[in-house]
Amino acid sequence: MTHILVAVAWPYANGPRHIGHIAGFAVPSDIFARYQRMRGNDVLMVSGTDEHGTPILVQAEKEGMSPEDLSLKYHEVITEDLKDLGMSYDIFTRTRTLTHKEAVQELFRSALRNGYVYLAEQKVAISPSTGRTLPDRYIEGTCPFCGAKDARGDQCDECGKELDPTDLLDPKSKIDGSTPVITSKEHYFLDLPALAPFLEKWLESRQGWRGPVMAFAKALLKDPRPRAITRDIDWGVPVPEGPFAGDPSKRFYVWFDALVGYLSSSLEWSRRAGEEEAWEKWWKEGAESYYFMGKDNIAFHTEIWPAILLASNGVKEGDCPSRFGALSLPSKVVASGFMTMKGAKFSSSRGVVVYLRDLLKTCQPDAIRYFIASCGPEKEDSDFSFEELARKVNGELVASWGNLVNRVCSLIHKNWGEIPDPEGLGPRGEDLLSSTLEGFGEVGELIGENRLHEALSKIMRLAGQANRYLSDTEPWKKGEEEKKKILFAAAQAVSDINVMLSPFLPFSSPRIFSLLGLPSSPSLPNIRTVREEGEEWSEICGPYECGSWARREIEIGAKVPKPFPVFKKFEAPGEA
Ligand code: MF3
Ligand code: ZN
Repeated sequence: MTHILVAVAWPYANGPRHIGHIAGFAVPSDIFARYQRMRGNDVLMVSGTDEHGTPILVQAEKEGMSPEDLSLKYHEVITEDLKDLGMSYDIFTRTRTLTHKEAVQELFRSALRNGYVYLAEQKVAISPSTGRTLPDRYIEGTCPFCGAKDARGDQCDECGKELDPTDLLDPKSKIDGSTPVITSKEHYFLDLPALAPFLEKWLESRQGWRGPVMAFAKALLKDPRPRAITRDIDWGVPVPEGPFAGDPSKRFYVWFDALVGYLSSSLEWSRRAGEEEAWEKWWKEGAESYYFMGKDNIAFHTEIWPAILLASNGVKEGDCPSRFGALSLPSKVVASGFMTMKGAKFSSSRGVVVYLRDLLKTCQPDAIRYFIASCGPEKEDSDFSFEELARKVNGELVASWGNLVNRVCSLIHKNWGEIPDPEGLGPRGEDLLSSTLEGFGEVGELIGENRLHEALSKIMRLAGQANRYLSDTEPWKKGEEEKKKILFAAAQAVSDINVMLSPFLPFSSPRIFSLLGLPSSPSLPNIRTVREEGEEWSEICGPYECGSWARREIEIGAKVPKPFPVFKKFEAPGEA
């Protein structure tokens, strides 16, 4: 049994989640976490909403709300979105908790004490119209590295390079198109050049990463530059000491804040469980940690977060870790590509978007999960269309898997109303069941390596095999004894395949077990209400009983009810 931290990227609390978001961080992480639980590992799956930074300020301004109200509002919306998708977080919290603030400040203090954080002058961009500092994301210009025209002041999405606003060629304010004026201000910096050799050593020792993610992470270390970790902004975690202590116009950079969420949410989870020290099992030597995100987050998780951890742990003699002790760096950073629509990036602001909550009105959550797991942007970008969603759902989930379940359960129900006693299996039945039994090893390995496309196509091949077995053996034409043998084997195959599908399809797999006469309760997220400092919000929590990654024997004599269709066809809009 291993302690496995499943660390899922924190969505900005600036709007409902769309299909692009959930294809990136949500579905891949939940399938992995559920699978690891089934393997008997001790999983802690954490995340929350990212409530600070300019993305929140921009949206608050748009909606004419305070950033407090806006981030609380969308925290609630996003929590509901993710719950409805079946995301099995042990805790889904937020970055405006006391625990979080204190954790950010504590890591900062130890990094400062160890000498990896220092004060220096930073060039900043000022808006000529307001005289105020323009946050990175408010500035657009040409990327100095790849020439992309729409690079932002913090990053170029085209080539993935991290940027400072002053790196941009021909910078323009996103608000009024004016050219920002550059001045100099004092800020805290994270000393990435000093940490780079240690980051390199850590990267060298990582295994099983996707090639492009590793290559990208290594490339970042070729030219490490100090990064400012404070901003001229009044929305964020305050700086606890030094010249900015008590200064309302200086806050930590949102990434120095949000990344610490992985730790603070683990602490919060511990506290709620009434075991203050429990979190350590997922953060100290021997534990494994898997980080899930879209590819625009890679730099932050392969460079900035490990650097923050190294800086606060300490790397040289005389360094001293924070009060949390030495914390483990990520075992693996699992990044997805982008989900596009008609080749363009999803974008709420440009209206190229399909919100999860809208799609859930006509499409089952398991169908969305199936679609993403089978053809989402696992290694490369992939395109979303309603037609493709319909093709996958109707052609595979409904016509192949749903139909198999239905045929087998109806035949058993009609003939006996219970699982029959077969008195041995025929050779074709033996073959089928040895294939499904072997499937556990192969499929499990693939899910463990985050290769969901391949895992799912292997499972669907097994379903195809079981469908062929039924058509070939034609139990409806056979005498009683043979019919029992054929359908018993078919029912066991359905149970096997259903176990393998359960990390993918947490809503429907328990229903399918019940159709086979096996007791089973769904393992879906719960919501609890939390109160702190006069504010009230919702949090996703467990517990989750995911069953075991092993054959579940069907039981002779178990009642088999009249089956109902588990999967609904999806109709692409405009088709009906
Ligand atoms: N809010 C960021 C985004 O949507 C992701 C933050 S991940 C974290 O891109 F771990 F840093 F929180
Ligand atoms: Zn670029």
